[in-house]
Amino acid sequence: QIPVHYMTMEINELEERAKAVKSRLGDRLFILGHHYQKDEVFQFSDATGDSLQLAQIAAANRKAEFIVFCGVHFMAETADILTTNDQKVYLPDMRAGCSMADMADIYETNRAWNALTQTFGETIIPLTYVNSTAAIKAFVGEHGGATVTSSNAEQLVEWALTKKERLLFLPDQHLGRNTAYKLGIPLEHMAIWDPIQNDLLFEGDLEKVTVILWKGHCSVHENFTTANIENIRKKHPDMKVIVHPECSREVVALSDMAGSTNFIITEIEQALPGTSFAVGTEMNLVNRMIQNHPDKHIISLNPYMCACLTMNRIDLPHLVWCLESLEDGFASNRIIVEEAIANKARHALNKMLQQ
Ligand code: 13P
Ligand code: SF4
Repeated sequence: QIPVHYMTMEINELEERAKAVKSRLGDRLFILGHHYQKDEVFQFSDATGDSLQLAQIAAANRKAEFIVFCGVHFMAETADILTTNDQKVYLPDMRAGCSMADMADIYETNRAWNALTQTFGETIIPLTYVNSTAAIKAFVGEHGGATVTSSNAEQLVEWALTKKERLLFLPDQHLGRNTAYKLGIPLEHMAIWDPIQNDLLFEGDLEKVTVILWKGHCSVHENFTTANIENIRKKHPDMKVIVHPECSREVVALSDMAGSTNFIITEIEQALPGTSFAVGTEMNLVNRMIQNHPDKHIISLNPYMCACLTMNRIDLPHLVWCLESLEDGFASNRIIVEEAIANKARHALNKMLQQ
């Protein structure tokens, strides 16, 4: 809980205070902002990007003493793993988690790995979406695997299948399935690991299973449906449907284009004036693109606009509180990944960053 006066402060005062801390700390402070952040926070970012870009930027920064991550918990953990011991990483609101990352815990993962290696022997390599806890990244690093983001999942799935006959993809079944399908792996060669039933679900020939998908998903991107696309096709036949690969296979199959956050932003930026898009991704980003491209007709694919509640927990009062308390030396929201976990997780992250 932050002191209540931050929550009742006027927006102008909060903005002045954020600017003042930034100018006092100069290069000692570096604020990273994910594209899904609210504008009130995003405007104070020194660097913005999707998950891959922010991980690369954090890894390259050796100057800042304080890194404030406006994003979610797993992103701040990644920044802590990739920065030096002298750099301190903060998350303005510790409640900014990720429901997808929470869908794979380390106990369930070890249990799954034991069962899967009993079935398939030493033929599996694990990959994890960066949207996972540091402990899962450490597990993957320890077993020779790598992290992936939506921008490089294809390269890393291809790489993994040069190492082993099959892979376990954590924790997003949709990104895993969409990526493998795009690479030509048939759906009947994919199985699902259900961590609740502790069971492998598949149809067909067990020997042919190449990709084992963890049964996790993004609670934001699952809200885009094939019915949403059918409505768009009826109402706006010329509109291009562009979605993130955290959407289901059926939604990706019906869309015109699917790709990472960076892909979506670039496609819309580069489109000719007058082009219209229905976008299947997080609401703050869709709203920002609507504002930034008045020459294009952009709407959300889901008329109710899908927001990531945990990304939205980072608001201006929390950011200002975080900045002022870290300057005073009293910040209680530092993200520290235990060294033993960080070392193993770094192996998995570095494999991705070196691709
Ligand atoms: P990217 O930034 O990799 O596109 O991921 C989207 C997301 O859901 C972040 O939580
Ligand atoms: Fe997690 Fe989805 Fe929110 Fe990204 S958008 S932080 S994957 S819940």
